[in-house]
Amino acid sequence: MTHIADYRETFLNYLEEKIVLTEPKSLYEPIVYILQLGGKRLRPVLTLMTAEIFGTSHTKALDAALAVEVFHNFSLVHDDIMDDAPLRRGKKTVHEKWDINTGILSGDAMLILAYQLFENYEGKTFRSLAELFSKTAIEVCEGQQYDIDFETRNDVTIPQYLKMIEYKTAVLVGAAMKMGAIVAEASETDAEGIYDFGRNLGLAFQLQDDYLDAYGDPETFGKQVGGDIIENKKTYLYLKAYENSSADNQESLQHLFSIQPEDTTEKVAAVMKIFSESNAPEAIKEAIEAYTKKAFAVLKTLNIGDKEKQLLQAFGEQLMNRTV
Ligand code: IPE
Ligand code: IPE
Ligand code: MG
Ligand code: MG
Ligand code: MG
Repeated sequence: MTHIADYRETFLNYLEEKIVLTEPKSLYEPIVYILQLGGKRLRPVLTLMTAEIFGTSHTKALDAALAVEVFHNFSLVHDDIMDDAPLRRGKKTVHEKWDINTGILSGDAMLILAYQLFENYEGKTFRSLAELFSKTAIEVCEGQQYDIDFETRNDVTIPQYLKMIEYKTAVLVGAAMKMGAIVAEASETDAEGIYDFGRNLGLAFQLQDDYLDAYGDPETFGKQVGGDIIENKKTYLYLKAYENSSADNQESLQHLFSIQPEDTTEKVAAVMKIFSESNAPEAIKEAIEAYTKKAFAVLKTLNIGDKEKQLLQAFGEQLMNRTV
């Protein structure tokens, strides 16, 4: 296969076959709900593509791809509780549709289900996948904790922010690709190389997520626009706006990012004004491009064919310009 849409469709068929509603319904309904809600399916597509790039049929990588997508969706269910988010993919979040306890336990079950899927691999492949998964999952938790800690801090630096997004988001994109390489029994050098490509793409991806959180189209974005501002998230937009602002605006920003008003309309408008005046959207766009280019520079060094490089580059370019 060479088309991204084909990988996505194959993956969706597999997901539908494997994730079915069983008893107790109240545990599994939210799991089926979130997994069938759509989403870009970026990570599993990368796992399947990478397996083929390293010379193995994508069908062998389906369980690893499903594990990655189930883990990703687990992290979203818990993330939406932590971020008090009402909307996900244009629909109610799990804890809004059911309740917080449901989100916690269905999420826990998804984490276990993800791990269980690796049992379909034998010997060395199983061990490598499980090791990579455990390491990545712990890093995601660390990143998520930094993200929450930063809400109430006003001394976050850009390097600290970059480390936080590397952990909460980028390592899973890298791992999704490395899992494809592991299934294909690629060399350690190739597996590390593709991980590094995915990690850089993942950094660009989270920066774009932060951009869209403020500047996305509420009609199509699928999440609450302005959610990061409401939750006092110290994103790249905030950090750059702060860096580029007058002392007065710096004080306003710090104040606005320390309060939690009942009605958030005025707060969001005031923050957006300062963001725009301080060229924060331009700065984040530059950073997105820089990390995408970094990923492409890594891509150049990889020991894979030109056609495969072009496929991955096209994928990266699409991500950089996405609107959802
Ligand atoms: C959302 O991930 C969480 C982040 C790491 C930014 P996606 O933007 O991949 O979400 P879906 O799966 O496509 O909905
Ligand atoms: C999510 O980051 C990262 C994980 C779920 C691990 P965000 O909180 O920015 O993701 P969205 O914007 O809710 O999708
Ligand atoms: Mg969130
Ligand atoms: Mg979050
Ligand atoms: Mg976000």
